[in-house]
Amino acid sequence: MSKQTLELHWGILATGGIAQTFAKDLSIDPKTRNVSTIKHSVAAAASSSSKTRAQEFLKEVDAPSSAKAYGSYEELVKDPDVDIIYIATPHSHHFQNAMLCFEHGKNVLCEKALTVNAAQARVLVEKARSKDLFFMEAVWTRYFPLSIYVRELITSGHLGSVHRVIADLSMAMDPATSFADGKSRMVNVDLAGGALLDLGIYSLTWLFQTLYTTQPESQRRKPSVQTIMSPFKTGADVHTSMILEFPRGEGEGPVHGVATTSMLVAGDPDGKGSAGPTIRVQGTKGEVQVFHPAFRPVKTKLVMKDGTVEDKEWPQPGPGKGSGFFNKFGSDKREEGEGQGMFWEADEAGYALLEGRKESRYQSLEESVVIMEVMDEVRKQGGLKYPEKIESVEYPLNLT
Ligand SMILES: NC(=O)c1ccc[n+]([C@@H]2O[C@H](COP(=O)([O-])OP(=O)(O)OC[C@H]3O[C@@H](n4cnc5c(N)ncnc54)[C@H](OP(=O)(O)O)[C@@H]3O)[C@@H](O)[C@H]2O)c1
Repeated sequence: MSKQTLELHWGILATGGIAQTFAKDLSIDPKTRNVSTIKHSVAAAASSSSKTRAQEFLKEVDAPSSAKAYGSYEELVKDPDVDIIYIATPHSHHFQNAMLCFEHGKNVLCEKALTVNAAQARVLVEKARSKDLFFMEAVWTRYFPLSIYVRELITSGHLGSVHRVIADLSMAMDPATSFADGKSRMVNVDLAGGALLDLGIYSLTWLFQTLYTTQPESQRRKPSVQTIMSPFKTGADVHTSMILEFPRGEGEGPVHGVATTSMLVAGDPDGKGSAGPTIRVQGTKGEVQVFHPAFRPVKTKLVMKDGTVEDKEWPQPGPGKGSGFFNKFGSDKREEGEGQGMFWEADEAGYALLEGRKESRYQSLEESVVIMEVMDEVRKQGGLKYPEKIESVEYPLNLT
């Protein structure tokens, strides 16, 4: 392993929808996004259901023939050829899975929401630190050039003083019909389902990366929150609205954040952006708007008080047309040769390991914990409690 370049050997823990999308993105040559010091490869994948499923997965994602298939997560974490593990199980299982990885000395990139609650997140952070391991929440959007551009508009002072951010991630899923049996991980409380932890975390991400991450570390303060939450018949939320106040120094505040999320209505009903932006970052000199979807935006609009209007497109790179490469998440398919955009976060994990960092540049572990604390408070106000077993910090626990 040279100090100038690094090939990361990934272990993929779980073989569901997003694990496939992520692993496919890893196969894209980093040079297509001007990255020359990091390379990625899938070294192994594990399925909790069977080794056969892991073998099928490796085929589906065009993994190298040397990649190993395991029929249990316990085998994966013992593989000495794996540098870092990507956890792609439902929220309910992240705590147990990440503890397993840390116990076996593995670095971790863990899907959002990091855990079910802040107490679990704190235990994981402590564990990773005590073992000197890299740990990062996989909020991929933060690593997009588009997000870096938005944050720079704020830190450079271009927007003036930012006083309000409005962010929505809503998708009309018709839960009463689509999730009628209540088993889908979107609404199943045993899997920590619900709009907040699944979709609302992106609305909160936009508030946090614009109003919290952009502050000097010593001045970052946890926001207060007020919530309205509507439950599905399972008890999981399907429609949640939050108003946050981010504390600022004397004479600067107050700074408001409005985060909404829903499975009942859509932020982009016609799928063409006709309803306008779903994110607005508003400063005294102007605002930057970001268009749906909050998790994978490809379009921004800058509207300044002096009359300047700047539309920008942010297409995701990839091998390009004619390459025969296709990626998708569920029924949401990309054009031929276009990446999903999950490689940006994978690159950040690579840079961190190359530089000896133990956490991400764009979302500290402390910030992940604060976001979990806010979501704890939102659930408390909304009356959403998950089963004790998945809220527990006990390890190991056998979850079904
Ligand atoms: N970044 C993004 O854009 C994005 C998008 C969607 C989801 N996510 C996040 O990724 C995670 C997984 O979401 P997903 O959509 O990939 O879910 P999914 O398709 O349901 O896959 C989850 C996988 O977890 C494993 N698993 C282990 N125990 C399970 C249990 N008790 N019930 C269900 N599955 C279990 C299964 O894989 P094995 O059988 O192989 O073990 C299953 O295929 C969630 O945290 C979600 O919030 C992120």
